[in-house]
Amino acid sequence: MKVIHRGKTKTGKDLIIRYPQPKDLLSVWRYFNQLSAEKTFITFQGEKISKKTEADWLDKNIKNIRQKKCVFLFVFIDGKLSGISDITLKERVSKHIGSFGITLSPEARGQGVGKLLMKLVISESKKRLPGLKIIILGCFANNEVALNLYKSLGFTEYGRLPKALFRKNTYVDEVLMHQTIE
Ligand SMILES: CC(C)(COP(=O)(O)OP(=O)(O)OC[C@H]1O[C@@H](n2cnc3c(N)ncnc32)[C@H](O)[C@@H]1OP(=O)(O)O)[C@@H](O)C(=O)NCCC(=O)NCCS
Repeated sequence: MKVIHRGKTKTGKDLIIRYPQPKDLLSVWRYFNQLSAEKTFITFQGEKISKKTEADWLDKNIKNIRQKKCVFLFVFIDGKLSGISDITLKERVSKHIGSFGITLSPEARGQGVGKLLMKLVISESKKRLPGLKIIILGCFANNEVALNLYKSLGFTEYGRLPKALFRKNTYVDEVLMHQTIE
């Protein structure tokens, strides 16, 4: 599928951002298991993800991209899968709402790649998901980097679910943010 961006990282490595392909299975399986083991600010906190679960996930999302139900972009740095972001439409009466998600591998963080990826996934979604009117996201209240990123791209807080998330033996609020698409 289509390459959306080709360039260099700030440290001069090759940077490619493109839609996922079936051949990405092993990369994406490793990628999510590494993030899960890291216990970063994501839903997986050390759980192992089976290859079958990952294959089903990739297959389903590649189909959903074709059916214009979502946009997924994968980041490759020097050929290694290093980031994933998506906007996935909800269903029925909420089908004008897209849920946003983003992760980068540890070595890809803090160099502007997240911001670039987020801008690209939003612009692709505006083109490919014609019904999209609102983008929403949820964020750990103690994830300062992500909150800064989201605010810098125009997201505003519309609510907060106290103690919605349990991570590293502590309950944390979930900050709910949105952005309206003109
Ligand atoms: C959150 C994440 C996607 C951000 O991507 P990133 O590439 O690290 O961030 P960038 O370098 O593009 O920086 C984007 C913005 O984040 C903020 N930011 C970056 N590093 C920061 C830091 N150390 N402290 C505070 N804010 C920071 C800044 O607002 C920055 O914008 P600016 O450089 O224009 O000021 C990435 O760090 C990540 O995947 N983290 C782990 C998983 C995660 O938290 N996912 C989000 C779940 S809600």
